[in-house]
Amino acid sequence: MTENIDKFVDSLRESLSRGTFVKMTLGNYKGADQHLQKIQVRLIATKKGRRLYFLYRGDTRDTAKNYSFDQSIDVVRGLLASDFCAAHLFTTENDLQLDIGKRGSRLNVAKPTFRNPASLAHDREKHRCVDENVFYLRLLGITNDEGRVRDRAQDKWRQINKFVEILAKTIDQSPLAQKSALNVVDMGSGKGYLTFAIYDHLRNIRGLDASVTGIEQRPELVEKCNEIAASGGFAGLKFIRSTIADIDVENVDILIALHACDTATDDAMYKGIQANASIVVVAPCCHQELRPQIKPPKMLQDVLKHGLLLERTAEFVTDSLRSLLLERFGYATKLIDFVPTEHTPKNLMLIGTRNPAPRRTAEIEREIDELKAFYSIDHQRLEALLENDRAALR
Ligand SMILES: C[S@@+](CC[C@H](N)C(=O)[O-])C[C@H]1O[C@@H](n2cnc3c(N)ncnc32)[C@H](O)[C@@H]1O
Repeated sequence: MTENIDKFVDSLRESLSRGTFVKMTLGNYKGADQHLQKIQVRLIATKKGRRLYFLYRGDTRDTAKNYSFDQSIDVVRGLLASDFCAAHLFTTENDLQLDIGKRGSRLNVAKPTFRNPASLAHDREKHRCVDENVFYLRLLGITNDEGRVRDRAQDKWRQINKFVEILAKTIDQSPLAQKSALNVVDMGSGKGYLTFAIYDHLRNIRGLDASVTGIEQRPELVEKCNEIAASGGFAGLKFIRSTIADIDVENVDILIALHACDTATDDAMYKGIQANASIVVVAPCCHQELRPQIKPPKMLQDVLKHGLLLERTAEFVTDSLRSLLLERFGYATKLIDFVPTEHTPKNLMLIGTRNPAPRRTAEIEREIDELKAFYSIDHQRLEALLENDRAALR
């Protein structure tokens, strides 16, 4: 009866000693804990050396423990002998699937899904950045009781995944990839979908010491998000009721503002620049500020008499100025389509990352001034907020 368990545990031991371990999952839980569902196991680097990180996924909360390799082997053997009836081990040499039934067990060995061992710094495996079957997605209304994404939440689910994927890639390509602790602030966090997903990704998928704070002006949303975070034991995740303009933030590695209304995006960018965040990511929402100011130059007067084109132009000029201002303060910028337009029209994302070789400031200043003059723009909020900082840099 224990022969296949022994073989499985031997393969785990061997994969750890040979450096071929990728990841492992224990499932089909039959133990006494009413909430525990599965355990996901991955390799992490700690100050004490390499460890296995056990993430105990429950329906109402997640908990995690690190074990040395020797301890892990004993823990896994114990869990398979008692509570878990299925286990999946991925190594770069084989995939092993163990199923334990009442009458015996079966061990299936297949070709490897993954050819590269787990990376310690971060996970570059091709898999979802967000685990679908986690309790907070259910409490936030994204998934149903069976852990499936609700039909009406499909667009949001796509957005959550895309966003975490983009952020993960941006971190990987920045000096933040070397850090084991990250401080993230999400301005205008709303119902908290993205805030929870970022926290879960950084903490539970990357195994980082992540601290994530959502800033939101609506008290009922703050209260609900804090309740869910507390019920899940998400110690490094909190939500604060405040307007973006009124919150003081410091030591921020990553500042996010997705679909914060109108000039709230400017307030958020200003806070990120002031805090010298390594990464600033915004997906602007409505663009009200510049439209009434735009006086089309003669060559565009017949074109911009159309409201729709004037609106698009206001969006274009606003986000161009935001991008240039980020560059002015030492960021490299990228503008991308966040999610396909059929899922949401608000799909432009501006990503700023600290640029070790920033562009010449005089050139950027001139571009900002010329763009404003071309459309007769008098006032842009981010520019106004940064005026003193800009003057100090001159
Ligand atoms: C459209 S929701 C987006 C929520 C979330 N970021 C997302 O993308 O799923 C915008 C949220 O920003 C909040 N918000 C807008 N302006 C704000 C401000 N100036 N200060 C704080 N919160 C703000 C709103 O209350 C709302 O909950």
